[in-house]
Amino acid sequence: MKKLNSLIGAALIAASGMLAGSAYAAGGGEHSGPEAKLIDWTFGGVFGTYDKAQLQRGFQVFQEVCSACHGAELFSFRMLEKEGGPEYSEAQVKALAASYTIQDPEHIDGERSGVPADKWPSPFETVQDAKDANGGVMPPDFSVLAKARNVPQKFPNWIGNYFTAYQEGGADYIYNLLTGYNDAPEGVEVGAGQYWNDHFHGTGGTLAMAPPLFDEMVDYEGEAPETVDQYAKDIAAFMMWLAEPDMTSRKALGFNVLMFLFLFAGMMYMVKRKLWSSVDH
Ligand code: HEC
Repeated sequence: MKKLNSLIGAALIAASGMLAGSAYAAGGGEHSGPEAKLIDWTFGGVFGTYDKAQLQRGFQVFQEVCSACHGAELFSFRMLEKEGGPEYSEAQVKALAASYTIQDPEHIDGERSGVPADKWPSPFETVQDAKDANGGVMPPDFSVLAKARNVPQKFPNWIGNYFTAYQEGGADYIYNLLTGYNDAPEGVEVGAGQYWNDHFHGTGGTLAMAPPLFDEMVDYEGEAPETVDQYAKDIAAFMMWLAEPDMTSRKALGFNVLMFLFLFAGMMYMVKRKLWSSVDH
């Protein structure tokens, strides 16, 4: 009976896991285009951490390319100093902030140069301006975009996600989107100001963003290749960090809690054996 109970328990747990998982997988919609390529991110897995050099390159791509259209309302300059992030020095961040003009109604001139506590300035003054400049579609804010997107995965691949702590779907999506511009499939009309992308919203579709990246567009200081592929990885990593700067410490905490529970269960089992050892049963 005891055995049967635990069997039923295990089956219930498995079933609820599958339900939760299929809801998650269904979020991406029916997949018809090419399978998304999953990247081996440094911040993946249980022990992953962000790669500082990669975040700095990603920030450079953001600053020089994406921020012409995309805002990041929750992003303040001083986040760039944060441990586990791009880790620019205090002086670098001060100088960077000072190079931007911030609209400040309380200032005598209505604007002033930036300080590290300032939020990243929006590229457009109003939502209407942003739409007007982009064929009627507002470029979404970057602050938490990497958390709001995911790559569709077919059954049973996502089951493994429970065991590998896979939370990089947003970064994988952004990478695939940026490298996914292609000729539209036969029979698909692409309107003016629209572009076909094999991975848009997981299934492929047209969107109002022209391919934003080209080879050799951003000058990297280090050895990293100046290719669309590398830029796409770097900006995707940066956006993941922006959306979840504490992801890696949260995962480490989760792992420590699990280890504790595991050891605690073992200890309790031994206590139980000891307590009941003198009782006949
Ligand atoms: C010229 C303006 C412009 C630039 C530059 C630009 N974007 Fe966009 N982006 C847009 C617009 C407009 C949309 C909305 C497209 C739509 O929904 O049809 C968009 C949408 C997106 C989306 C959301 C797609 C989705 O799933 O809804 C992502 C991610 C994105 N851009 C990333 C980037 C990155 C990364 C860069 C820099 C490498 C960049 N963009 C540069 C205009 C731009």
